[in-house]
Amino acid sequence: ASNQMWGGRFASGPAAIMEAINASISFDKKLYTQDIRGSIAHSEMLAQTGIISAEDQKKIAEGLNTILSEIEAGTFEFSARLEDIHMNIEARLADLIGPSAGRLHTARSRNDQVALDFRLWVKEELQRTANALVGLIEAFLDRAEEHAATVMPGFTHLQTAQPVTFGHHCMAYVEMFARDLSRVRDAIRRMDESPLGAAALAGTGFPIDRQMTAKALGFREPTRNSIDSVSDRDYALEFLSTAAICATHLSRLAEEIVIWSTPQFGFIRLSDQFSTGSSIMPQKKNPDAAELVRAKTGRVNGHLIGLLTVMKGLPLAYSKDMQEDKEAVFDAAETLDLMVAAMTGMVRDMTINTAAMKKAAGSGYSTATDLADWLVREAGLPFREAHHVTGRAVALAEEKKLPLERLALTDLQAIDSRINDSIFDVLSVNASVKSRSSFGGTAPQEVRRQTRYWRKRLKQG
Ligand code: ARG
Repeated sequence: ASNQMWGGRFASGPAAIMEAINASISFDKKLYTQDIRGSIAHSEMLAQTGIISAEDQKKIAEGLNTILSEIEAGTFEFSARLEDIHMNIEARLADLIGPSAGRLHTARSRNDQVALDFRLWVKEELQRTANALVGLIEAFLDRAEEHAATVMPGFTHLQTAQPVTFGHHCMAYVEMFARDLSRVRDAIRRMDESPLGAAALAGTGFPIDRQMTAKALGFREPTRNSIDSVSDRDYALEFLSTAAICATHLSRLAEEIVIWSTPQFGFIRLSDQFSTGSSIMPQKKNPDAAELVRAKTGRVNGHLIGLLTVMKGLPLAYSKDMQEDKEAVFDAAETLDLMVAAMTGMVRDMTINTAAMKKAAGSGYSTATDLADWLVREAGLPFREAHHVTGRAVALAEEKKLPLERLALTDLQAIDSRINDSIFDVLSVNASVKSRSSFGGTAPQEVRRQTRYWRKRLKQG
């Protein structure tokens, strides 16, 4: 049999393989609440503007609410023959209320309908993501306050560079995830327009009120071009690109957690809740959750490239290609939600081994820059010369297998006679971090200032 929605000019139904490639119900059923909300708002507007009768509207709204409860109760029968969520719901509406159902689709097309439903869904997901990111940022702020003065090695090339504080390192992640949060909020602001009423692509001759439906559905305003309204998937691409950047940040964090939790580093211990054992090696405690966050980034990034590639050759306006937008976004959303939640748990629960961090912070001549800075400040050397003198001190320390602060003053003076006793004030890791009090630097007082700043910013929303 031909399709009951659009089968007027068709003599026969689709080949089985056509149905299989064409149907999207298996995944777009996720849009049922958005579809029903959109249809109710559309019907109310149609009644308000006199395009359909109040009686028809009442039947339509009641029928749609019945369908909502059927879907939620799990009794609704989805059919691949009816292609997608829009036609599944409309066909059921006709079963329930008869011919009045046919009036719902006046002045509307599935093209603006799906654009609306998907926008509503992506907007809600962006809001969920924003809330989750606030939770992650707060977890880092708590750890940063707790460890504002805990010294650890700072790295470049994964080699000990200069001492920093663990609080400062946490605040680096606060900055990253706060940028992700601001990208999410920008995306919401940009996509906050209703495409409903664009119809197939050209608008409609019916006297519809697009302001009214936009407002009823919580959008700032209606979109301004009917062709763009049904062609645009920027909001999905922006969600995916924002998600990909955020996932990339989560992956870098995951990598650090994997490194820090190795017995070789021993900087942190993951809680039992976020690690697993080995089935053969009893001594192991593996950072599986962190590794999976690192790995799932590949999926999220892949979905971004996938949808960019779907969209790149499409002429305006709608093409069925665009049906391929949904699985990418749904999977990226589910994956990202899980990643942020797992990371928030890990950050909150991990134990910080302050002794191991401090020990590592002092190894590898990490205060060599402090020695050079002292020579510049106290002895008036040009930095390049100070760098050279310090290099000789490091070579001597290496030869004597001593940390810099344990070198004898006479040995240091043999390298440069302008060195005096007060050099030892700057060679300890605590003195080193304390001295780096420039704006945004690692000094504990500066870290505390930055945590206060972000607490306040987060409250402002
Ligand atoms: N299932 C379709 C999609 O997801 C709905 C829009 C169909 N419109 C059309 N003209 N075939 O894109």
